Amino acid sequence: MLIDGEWVDSTSGDYQQVVNPSTEEAFARIPSATKKDVDRAVEAANKAFKQWSKTSLGERKELLYKAAEIVEKRANEISKLLTMEQGKPLKQAMEELRNSAYVLRYFAEEIFRVYGEIIPLPRREYESVTIYQPVGVVAAITPWNYPVQLLSWKVGAALAAGCTVIAKPPSYTPTSPIKFIECLHDAGMPRGVVNILTGRGSVVGEELILHPLVRKVSFTGSTDMGKRVMSLCASSLKRVTLELGGQTPMIVFSDANIEKAVKGAVRRSFRNMGQICNAINRIYVEKSIFEQFVQMFIDEAKKLKIGDPLHEPDVDLGPMCNKEALDKVIDHIQDAVTKGGKIVYGGKRPNGETFKKGYWYEPTIIVNVNNNMEIMKEETFGPAKPVMPFENIDQVIEWANSTRYGLAAYVYTNNLNIVSKLSRELEAGNIGVNNVDVATIEAPYPGWKESGIGCDLGREGLKHYLEIKHLKMYYEL
Ligand SMILES: NC(=O)c1ccc[n+]([C@@H]2O[C@H](COP(=O)([O-])OP(=O)(O)OC[C@H]3O[C@@H](n4cnc5c(N)ncnc54)[C@H](OP(=O)(O)O)[C@@H]3O)[C@@H](O)[C@H]2O)c1
Repeated sequence: MLIDGEWVDSTSGDYQQVVNPSTEEAFARIPSATKKDVDRAVEAANKAFKQWSKTSLGERKELLYKAAEIVEKRANEISKLLTMEQGKPLKQAMEELRNSAYVLRYFAEEIFRVYGEIIPLPRREYESVTIYQPVGVVAAITPWNYPVQLLSWKVGAALAAGCTVIAKPPSYTPTSPIKFIECLHDAGMPRGVVNILTGRGSVVGEELILHPLVRKVSFTGSTDMGKRVMSLCASSLKRVTLELGGQTPMIVFSDANIEKAVKGAVRRSFRNMGQICNAINRIYVEKSIFEQFVQMFIDEAKKLKIGDPLHEPDVDLGPMCNKEALDKVIDHIQDAVTKGGKIVYGGKRPNGETFKKGYWYEPTIIVNVNNNMEIMKEETFGPAKPVMPFENIDQVIEWANSTRYGLAAYVYTNNLNIVSKLSRELEAGNIGVNNVDVATIEAPYPGWKESGIGCDLGREGLKHYLEIKHLKMYYEL
């Protein structure tokens, strides 16, 4: 763990094991931080904030650029750890590292474009001015599906804004985030500006959230945990950003380019084994093209190669990250089948020596589904995808909006009127029109309803690490 510029063990002397999901074997151990460790880290970050918040934007930019360069230089080494603990294919882990370096550079630049305002007032001798100032010590708590990239969203924005950070990475995938934080440290971040504590969220996460010197909690994770985090923040009215789960619908109209829709469906259904917050959860296809779409979806899914993510360079899919995640997928499939769903592709562990151990599952497609099945209402967070026909636009909007989530939705159509209606009426923070890539570093990534509060990314995301201040000026004119 990095506390106050030094690499240390926990004061507990306890460790958690890190397991490779391809083999179920432990390959690393990480310290379990205690309340004492949390106190030390927060006090160090609080002390460092007094200096860091006063550094020039030029100094911050130089350090963030240097850190980005180190991330790129070490991307090979770190991506191997990422694959070993998370299970994604090595080439996708490399992409995650490159994206994370880009995020650091993006926020180093974007902070120059957070403008205050001069607000004219009725009397000419008065003027109102707004300025933005860093919020203070930030606790950044992140999940295991994109453990480096999601941390970079928070750390990049917080440091650029002039905040200091304590990162709490997920217990399933802590080693690649530790190595990412090491890049920032080695770039020359002053001591205490960036810290990382490992250990269970129920201990380290809660101690961080409840610490009076932590001024903001930036949390990405499940909706249920997000509610707990928000309730803990309420006691001291801590600033809080919540990026939570989703139940993302994809809607395909008969006038769409079906080839492109199918490619989009496969990409956003199965990439990272469906363990993406904005992964497609359910697909609604206009009735007249339903059969054709399902057949093409199966044919395209068959092209995906599943295998050893570390040693086979051409695989598209690795294992799921952990047993808990795999069990949830199996539960959702069983629930759907019990209620009449029909598996038309996949639905089991793949055959072969590679798959004897590990959390493997085939990409799975299910039809004969209805909106009362768990798989249509709750976040599966895995590679099982239900496809259902719809009759008309109003019906599909009602279905799409029928869950408690509102992170993303995808629409495929070439009809401008349909685009216009759906972009206004879908209850989701991010709508992809004829594409399935809505998490874009330069734009805000907000979750509606139970998918979150506030947002990461873009200038809007950066502003969540800043407090607005109003200056009322009086001039002797
Ligand atoms: N909207 C987005 O941007 C976005 C992006 C990616 C993922 N997600 C969502 O994240 C979820 C999957 O991640 P997950 O299973 O890792 O989520 P999770 O169980 O909610 O855990 C997220 C983080 O919270 C920590 N934590 C656990 N208990 C805590 C507590 N009582 N107080 C404070 N922190 C605590 C975890 O630590 P431990 O690991 O030690 O338990 C982990 O670091 C999915 O729902 C997915 O949709 C959302």
